[in-house]
Amino acid sequence: MVPNTLFMGQQQYFLPTCDSTNTEAQKLLNKNEATEGCVVLTAQQTKGRGQRGNNWEAEPGKNITLSVILSPSFLLVRQQFYLNMAVSLAVLDLVREQGLIQGQVKWPNDLYVQDRKLGGILIENTISNQKIQQSIVGIGLNINQTNFSSPTATSLAAILERELDLDSVVAQLMEYLEKRYLELRAGRLAKIKFDYLRALYRYQEPHLFVVNGEQVPGQIQGVDEEGKLAVEVAQELRFFGFKEIGFVI
Ligand code: BTN
Repeated sequence: MVPNTLFMGQQQYFLPTCDSTNTEAQKLLNKNEATEGCVVLTAQQTKGRGQRGNNWEAEPGKNITLSVILSPSFLLVRQQFYLNMAVSLAVLDLVREQGLIQGQVKWPNDLYVQDRKLGGILIENTISNQKIQQSIVGIGLNINQTNFSSPTATSLAAILERELDLDSVVAQLMEYLEKRYLELRAGRLAKIKFDYLRALYRYQEPHLFVVNGEQVPGQIQGVDEEGKLAVEVAQELRFFGFKEIGFVI
């Protein structure tokens, strides 16, 4: 289905099966065959990749597994987390559109509903001259799958108790992605950060975190420019990189 957008998702490559849509998107870029907003979609990934070197598992034909190619060369390398925030917000906009108001973003960019994971984002950037030249934005969002090997995973269909039309959900996602990307391109960085913090899972609530293998009480206070998580631990504000802190769920 062609989305109602200027460029996002206007060029589409559908592969019945592939290793990873991020890998396929990189191949298109290498061959110069992609324009901005080009999307690679598949029904089945055999080597779907997640963050921290994890695999991304999804039942074939039931979920969103896609990668979008963007050229956010207007962003400086140190601003790259704004792209993560904008993409997370677009997915959340989509989730809200389906009638699900409790969607949140678990830092840095996992989509959560209550304490369950609905989807994830894997962004791979190509950097030169202090700018992000190309970005491959991989999105995995559980739509119609209802059985999961992980007890903390869920899907839109499981929560809403109805099956969704996958093609139209993809088209809507392209529309929200374009809207948020255009906000980013227009330099509305403060708005993006404001919306992200408003949607942030466990923001300004006391919870347990794992730091250096130990559970410590803390409270999320925000994210810094680089995307590090600011957490107050023992009355001290500390900034954590991606692998330096875990949530106790
Ligand atoms: C995570 O939460 O760990 C990120 C998951 C990202 C999964 C998507 S599915 C489409 C794209 N292709 C991949 O190999 N990974 C991303």
